[in-house]
Amino acid sequence: MSRRTEPMPGTTDLFAPDTDLWRFIEARAHEVFGLYGYGELRTPIFERTDVFLHSIGDDTDIVQKEMYTFEDRGGRSLTLRPEGTAGVLRAVANAGIGQGEERRVYYLGPMFRGERPAAGRRRQFHQIGVENIGRVAPAIDVECIAMMRHFFAAVGLEGGRLLINSRGVAEDRQLISSALREYFAPRIEAMCEDCQRRLKVNVARILDCKQPSCRTVIEAAPAIPELLGENSRAFFSEVCDGLAALDIEFEVDPRLIRGLDYYVHTVWELAYEGIGAQNSIAGGGRYEICPPGFKEPVPGVGFALGVERLLLALEDARALPSFDTGIDVYLVSLGSEAMHANQRLASALRACGCRVLMDLEGRGMKAQLRQANRLEARFALIRGGDELARGIVVCRDMRAATQEEMAADAATTEMAVRLDHG
Ligand code: HAM
Repeated sequence: MSRRTEPMPGTTDLFAPDTDLWRFIEARAHEVFGLYGYGELRTPIFERTDVFLHSIGDDTDIVQKEMYTFEDRGGRSLTLRPEGTAGVLRAVANAGIGQGEERRVYYLGPMFRGERPAAGRRRQFHQIGVENIGRVAPAIDVECIAMMRHFFAAVGLEGGRLLINSRGVAEDRQLISSALREYFAPRIEAMCEDCQRRLKVNVARILDCKQPSCRTVIEAAPAIPELLGENSRAFFSEVCDGLAALDIEFEVDPRLIRGLDYYVHTVWELAYEGIGAQNSIAGGGRYEICPPGFKEPVPGVGFALGVERLLLALEDARALPSFDTGIDVYLVSLGSEAMHANQRLASALRACGCRVLMDLEGRGMKAQLRQANRLEARFALIRGGDELARGIVVCRDMRAATQEEMAADAATTEMAVRLDHG
């Protein structure tokens, strides 16, 4: 492997059968989200930078350190999407959404963050996300979390810890900030440089710091739910009651604020132990985002999961599905006339759904059978001049290592029946 052919750090080439796994996971997303009336939305991979700047939050790690931002030839500042929600809100606003209307959309695709690559932390990673846009009710948040659980069950992943919290609304922020400032100010010397800056500009952001030395201070900080006003408290307890009513297990993490600043009210994360330090498989919450040019923020709730982390968790739980990647039939041809006849047979077999490969280079019989073996073909159908003259093919069962003759014009039906493609 030469360094010049390796993908950039934090990015990956995906070959089959890994791509089969990805398609399996994506198929479950289409199925499950469809059951809740969500439709797929595909937004561009890059957007004008301002789509992300203010919605994600100027003081977040994503905006401060991680965005892939560049100028195009026209001097416009563009950014590779670091997450899906901001672009989805822009797209929905652009398509038009009236006051009080609801939009249910989901998306799948690559996101980009310039983070230090590690297990479960990629620079190009893939999210599957869902957004319920336009309406505000605790039961919508509950349905969204239930749908997330439904999706994980559908891909075969049980367990994990669901952590939830509330960030309150704008009116609660004053009280939350001053309580946090009062707590952190005398302790800030022992904290990292970022936290020292956050104390001045956006104190709640400190709660999201991942530095181990800061974590010990953060763990004793005031609990946010206790600082909420009456309305936010009621909203949060309706969400908790709604989850309990659906028997969805959760833990309140009173210092969870998540890495994005658009959240209001409910926030949650699904943490899965056993996949290393990056153990958050999915995260989401309720938000208010003001798309560029909009005067009023648009409300919504949603979540996104990281496909790479989900795969790590499935692997850890030994729940990775396996796929039959072998081929069904390998056609062995001796001579160009047989090759032509086999090309026609290959078409007929493929039309019945059989996976068929054949030699196209006129190699010898031994080499062709070796290839059939290597490809784990279930059957080899062999013919040369003699078989052509007699209107037959020799069918070799590659597992049983037995051989029989079969009428050439019955071969397609016979194979389809034996392979259950009939
Ligand atoms: P997030 O927590 O930043 O939320 O990302 C969601 C998920 O994406 C994470 O739980 C993780 O599985 C995956 N992820 C994030 N960064 C990386 C990375 N560098 N490498 C691998 N996987 C990663 C959001 O992005 C919000 N937009 C979620 C949301 C939707 N909130 C409301 N609606």
